[in-house]
Amino acid sequence: MLEKLAEIEQVGLATLAEIADEAALNQWKVTHLGRSSAIMDLFKNMGEVSKEERGAVGREANQVKQALEAALTQKMAALREVALRRSLSQERLDVTLPGRAIPRGRLHPVTQTLREIYRVFADMGFQVYRSREVETDEFNFQLLNFPPHHPAREMQDSFYIQSQEERGDNPILLRTHTSPGQIRAMREYSAENPENPPPVRIILPGMCYRYEQVSARYESQFTQVEGLAVGRNITFSNLKGTLSDFARRMFGQNVRARFRASHFPFTEPSAEMDIECFLCGGEGCAVCKSTGWLEILGCGMVHPTVLKNGGYDPERYTGFAFGMGPERITMLRRKIEDIRYFWANDLRFLEQF
Ligand code: DAH
Repeated sequence: MLEKLAEIEQVGLATLAEIADEAALNQWKVTHLGRSSAIMDLFKNMGEVSKEERGAVGREANQVKQALEAALTQKMAALREVALRRSLSQERLDVTLPGRAIPRGRLHPVTQTLREIYRVFADMGFQVYRSREVETDEFNFQLLNFPPHHPAREMQDSFYIQSQEERGDNPILLRTHTSPGQIRAMREYSAENPENPPPVRIILPGMCYRYEQVSARYESQFTQVEGLAVGRNITFSNLKGTLSDFARRMFGQNVRARFRASHFPFTEPSAEMDIECFLCGGEGCAVCKSTGWLEILGCGMVHPTVLKNGGYDPERYTGFAFGMGPERITMLRRKIEDIRYFWANDLRFLEQF
């Protein structure tokens, strides 16, 4: 019996020494220390050992079992150590290496200006209204008080979607300004509540398209931000106050604004607003062409015909409107000399902002 025990121990230790991975080690544990291992069988069959021998065999069997268990624990620790060393050497990280910069995207300069405009008008209670880019002649011109052969239409040579034959008298075109959104918004607001239309206070931003001779000053696509306020007792003085406040919030608290009489078919009276040149403070420089003033938007009181076309009774309601070009504002502020940079997608330009 004692010889058998010695053999169990010797075979156990010898096979353990060969083992190099955890799966084999688990298997070894089942074979040499598990319920049906030779050593456990021996314990189970202790009854068959003669009384005289039982004490010595029992003691020896316990020692063999403990020796195998101790060897197993040691082996486990050794395997873990090897695994740790391997992962440390394979996954070594040099924390002193310089980092790799991750290229960051940035907002388009016009988007930055647009967001500033939204913020300023949101603070004054104006909501953003998104209108369509593909319009009909009726909304783009007729309802805005441009009669079919009005000369103002020639200023805005249009991109028509249909062929000459298909056009008829209400052709589809890409909007040449954001003003048609005024009619759509007014109709929506008054249709919501025909008895007592809510006061309209919105800005309408978006892309516009004109069939222009492209140059440093004119692009065939550009953004506009239109504004519209309609309600009871809205006056020209509200228009001046709102836009002067916009200028101060956008360009600085001390910026002065002035209004010059102008003409648009959809407003009466109409004006253009200039702000004091924020680059030279009114002294005169290259950007303001020595005048000290920069023109930044067109505006006026909504024409009675336009109010009517929008579903409002001009006897009871009045309103003001304005329109500005974010590209122009961005060019003035960032001293950009050519409008074509904006939509040319040249990263060398875009990455500067
Ligand atoms: N729609 C005009 C344009 O594209 C800009 C404009 C001027 C809009 C005066 C207005 C306004 O709402 O009142 O040139």
